[in-house]
Amino acid sequence: MVSDQFPPDFMWGVATASYQIEGAVAEGGRKPSVWDTFSQTPGRVLNGETGNPACDHYHRYETDIQLMVELGIKHYRFSIAWPRIIPDGRGTVNQAGIDFYQRLVDSLLNNGITPHATLFHWDSPQALEDLYGSWRSREMAQDFADYVAVVVNKLGDRITSWMTINEIPCFTHLGYQVNALPPHAPGTVVSRPKDVWQTSHHALLAHGLGVQAIRANSTFPCTISLVDNCAVTVPITESPEDILAAQKAFALCGQNGGITFPALTGSYSPVLLELLGNEAPDILPGDLEIIHQPLDQLGLNIYSATYVRASDNSQGFEFLGLPKGYPRMNMPWLNIVPECIYWGIRHISETLDRSDLPILITESGCAAEDELTPQGEVIDTDRIMYLRQHFKSAYRALVEGYPLKGYFVWSLMDNFEWAWGYQRRFGLIYMDYITQKRIPKASFQWYAECIRQNRVV
Ligand code: NOJ
Repeated sequence: MVSDQFPPDFMWGVATASYQIEGAVAEGGRKPSVWDTFSQTPGRVLNGETGNPACDHYHRYETDIQLMVELGIKHYRFSIAWPRIIPDGRGTVNQAGIDFYQRLVDSLLNNGITPHATLFHWDSPQALEDLYGSWRSREMAQDFADYVAVVVNKLGDRITSWMTINEIPCFTHLGYQVNALPPHAPGTVVSRPKDVWQTSHHALLAHGLGVQAIRANSTFPCTISLVDNCAVTVPITESPEDILAAQKAFALCGQNGGITFPALTGSYSPVLLELLGNEAPDILPGDLEIIHQPLDQLGLNIYSATYVRASDNSQGFEFLGLPKGYPRMNMPWLNIVPECIYWGIRHISETLDRSDLPILITESGCAAEDELTPQGEVIDTDRIMYLRQHFKSAYRALVEGYPLKGYFVWSLMDNFEWAWGYQRRFGLIYMDYITQKRIPKASFQWYAECIRQNRVV
């Protein structure tokens, strides 16, 4: 008996998102999302690239599912594009959009792969941005919930794992804040921090109303999660002092105290509210009850972390900068801190006191400078190194009894990496965007072997 086995029912998977892979932006009745508009605006996306045709997954999903079968995954996380289902954001439902996802999901199920559907991965209907400024308005939350009700009614007979919203800070704070790095759609700068916080508050409300809409419309038992990208703080040593410092720092990071906390505990972190003062969002009576819905599990997207140590300053901790030359993958923010998986899980369970909540790593992966060899292979030993270390960190969380249930690698294939266009490759499969040829990388074979042996190889 090998002692490093993952649990037999551990969910190994891969993740993608609609705008990043589908292409076919003007087909099947789809209307523009804010990302179509943003990427078509000169200067917004590197090299003027857009999400069309991306991986042309809209037409090639059968090929992609066969690659998933080859990989041996049993779980696939993808997202549903709101502008395919309700092209104007509210009102008329587009049957062709529903049909596409029904075909996709049926094919997944026929191939023994469980679908995990994210209901929103940043492609807001442009019509709602034009109508009322999308996330700047409270109306967005109700329109989202109405869209969710439609999806669950039409697809709830075949999808039983729902994820409401992906990474709230990225389409709110990065979409509206001055000097956002990198800027994200819609790229409309609002004047005060308070207005930025209001957009994420509206997204939290959308999540809460979305959970209610799933429960009200699902006739089948299902699991519901939020996909959160909390900022992970890692203690520089595991002394009790440094661990305490990392816990305090975790509560103070804006995106934790202002997003993870309200969603999982029902209140914004008091330290953050104090820090924001007049710039805190307006919170109406009843909002926090809506936001703090019971969840069946939590999705965590974790790529990196910040080191923290104890200090005798007034906060009791300090964030540590990184030395020049600290190892990083092919993104300015992708410092390699493998302990991030373990500490992300542990902070949710312990610091937030939510050990009752099963956790999925819904995204983990890295961009690398992949190149085709003359033989037509991609030997991405750097990605293997990155994933191996992160899988081990997940394993540590399991050994210590934290409720980790699954791990989804980002991403199945190279795709449209938002403001970076196609210049950053996160896939286990290399995309030749000219021919649309898919070439499994060495990391694909390595991951397949991990899944086959159900352990880190
Ligand atoms: C998280 C986002 O959810 C995903 O869309 C993005 O491609 C990856 N991070 C990598 O940046």
